[in-house]
Amino acid sequence: RTRTFSGVKPTGHLTLGNYLGAVRQWVEVDQHRSDALFSVVDLHALTVEHDPARVRRLSRQAATLLLAAGLDPALCTVYVQSHVDEHARLSYLLECTATDGELRRMIQYKEKSVRAREAGEGVRLSLLTYPVLMAADILAYATDEVPVGEDQRQHVELARDLAVRFNQRYGHTFTVPRATHPAVAARVMDLQDPTSKMGKSHENGSGIVYLLDEPGVTRKKVMRAVTDSGTDVVYDREARPGIANLLDVLAAATGREPEKLAGEYDSYGALKRDTAEAVVELLRPVRERHAELAADPGYVDRVLREGAERARGMARPVVDRAYRAIGLMPAA
Ligand code: TYM
Repeated sequence: RTRTFSGVKPTGHLTLGNYLGAVRQWVEVDQHRSDALFSVVDLHALTVEHDPARVRRLSRQAATLLLAAGLDPALCTVYVQSHVDEHARLSYLLECTATDGELRRMIQYKEKSVRAREAGEGVRLSLLTYPVLMAADILAYATDEVPVGEDQRQHVELARDLAVRFNQRYGHTFTVPRATHPAVAARVMDLQDPTSKMGKSHENGSGIVYLLDEPGVTRKKVMRAVTDSGTDVVYDREARPGIANLLDVLAAATGREPEKLAGEYDSYGALKRDTAEAVVELLRPVRERHAELAADPGYVDRVLREGAERARGMARPVVDRAYRAIGLMPAA
């Protein structure tokens, strides 16, 4: 069976981008047809200025939301990254195979290090090594497929490169993974700035639909989406990024094709209204289930405890093999 691994970082509240770009595929496809692990990757939330209490709270919320969205612990493994030591153990070995130049080329490093400097904060070393930890997340489980949004493409490429390099130098140890992306909405854009990604750590939340937003709030955000000049509805991501983004979201929410949908609208207002309703209905069951699960923290704790145990059992043999292969002396 195919092994699948993916993760979500508890740096902010989960967004419609996370849902359409990743989580929905995990729920609808990956957990059914593969041996899948999904992790709240909390170690990754420490690479920029962070508030410990907030990270702790958001980690629990993210885990609860993954279950609310429909990940089923009877079908897949859901756990918190820091509960499994193998990630950090393997990350160090991979740091000994990656180069400084390779990591400085990463787009997200370039963007986020500039932002940290502008904010007068130091650039944490972990921001540079972040993709190595991500490679460790993936490689520790002998992962074949990594279902992610478009923005993670370069990071998964690095994981592939590191796996191939390690195998060549130290003998076959790692499965070489590949990224998979949803057919539509692999890159949901900010509603207020449709040339940049809808991201949970964005400063201004008015262009971001959060999974836990009240329906009224979601409607307002979609209705106020920035649209392009022009009035006819055409699907053109370059020339009409705002309208194309709404069409992508509506297509993803309704299982239709954005180009086809474009032909059915002759005003921006109608497109926005239908998109707002489709998003509200798409997220309604997730919100409702989240409220139920949040009232039962014991259940979530139990799922995460069992998940971590299973994950540990899968990762340990792979990471132990890597320790031997790279030349570390086995303990007597
Ligand atoms: P993160 O937490 O930023 O996002 C979680 C998932 O959501 C996708 N995503 C989007 N998809 C479409 N449109 C958007 N606007 C959008 N925003 C986010 C992301 O592509 C991702 O799939 N580095 C990763 C977390 C990670 C990981 C891993 C993923 C750590 N280790 C190992 C896969 C495998 C991240 O920051 O995702």
